[in-house]
Amino acid sequence: MERLTKLEVRDLTLRFGGVTALDNVGFDVMAGEMFAVIGPNGAGKTSIFNCVNGVYKPQAGTIRLGDTVLTGRSPASIAALGVARTFQNLGLFGNLSLIDNLMLGRHHLMRTGMLAGMFWWGRAKREEITHRADVESVIDLLELGPYRRTPAGMLPYGVAKRAELGRALAMEPTLLLLDEPVAGMNLEETEDMARYLTEVRRRLGVTMILVEHDMRLVMDLADRVLALDFGVPIATGTPAEVQNDPVVVEAYLGGAA
Ligand SMILES: Nc1ncnc2c1ncn2[C@@H]1O[C@H](COP(=O)(O)OP(=O)(O)OP(=O)(O)O)[C@@H](O)[C@H]1O
Ligand SMILES: [Mg+2]
Repeated sequence: MERLTKLEVRDLTLRFGGVTALDNVGFDVMAGEMFAVIGPNGAGKTSIFNCVNGVYKPQAGTIRLGDTVLTGRSPASIAALGVARTFQNLGLFGNLSLIDNLMLGRHHLMRTGMLAGMFWWGRAKREEITHRADVESVIDLLELGPYRRTPAGMLPYGVAKRAELGRALAMEPTLLLLDEPVAGMNLEETEDMARYLTEVRRRLGVTMILVEHDMRLVMDLADRVLALDFGVPIATGTPAEVQNDPVVVEAYLGGAA
């Protein structure tokens, strides 16, 4: 699948009753870019992801991945187009082993359905072997080998966040949405994650949107940054430009006060 795909978000508005979670938000993410979205709690960052992957239906606006309009499609069809995400609160099945969690991530790539699997044994078996090999390459990339058989619920927190990234990568995404990949991590775990994300980018070249409160990670990894406040875009630019923008500083200080 083509991994270098541009994302276009235009005039996106999302309301929940009286709350405007996203107010006329627009931005482009270039093919292969690492684009960050920052903003205080409740700014609308996760809501952008939920609009991109079809979980929320925006009242207005258009989202395009390459030539394909995503808005109006179901979450399953958007996932099948190669949009994968990690969750702010882990999206792993705690009772399943790490490797089974990653295999589940590939479900939409499997051509052999369950019924066909029962009758066309040979083909299903060959497919299973190919999928295992692809999952193993994700496990190698993220150095998750020692935890292969560990139930996801038993993984140390930092490793579980990495496994969550692995689950998304196992989907062979064209667009990867990362919702606070280092939330709750200590400095060492954060530095490890930064290294893995850099490696993912170098090796897979996948287009990424990073939502993160950790400004150091954003400064280190992002090409460009969009800052939101109460659903309104307040700045776009390089990490240094956005971090020093007085309106952005004010939005964060206002939140802290
Ligand atoms: N399903 C929902 N129902 C009602 N309101 C919602 C829903 N999802 C989000 N909101 C509201 O939309 C606004 C934006 O929420 P969102 O979760 O996108 O913020 P966020 O920037 O991801 O915040 P955080 O940094 O805390 O994760 C908030 O006011 C939130 O309460
Ligand atoms: Mg959020």
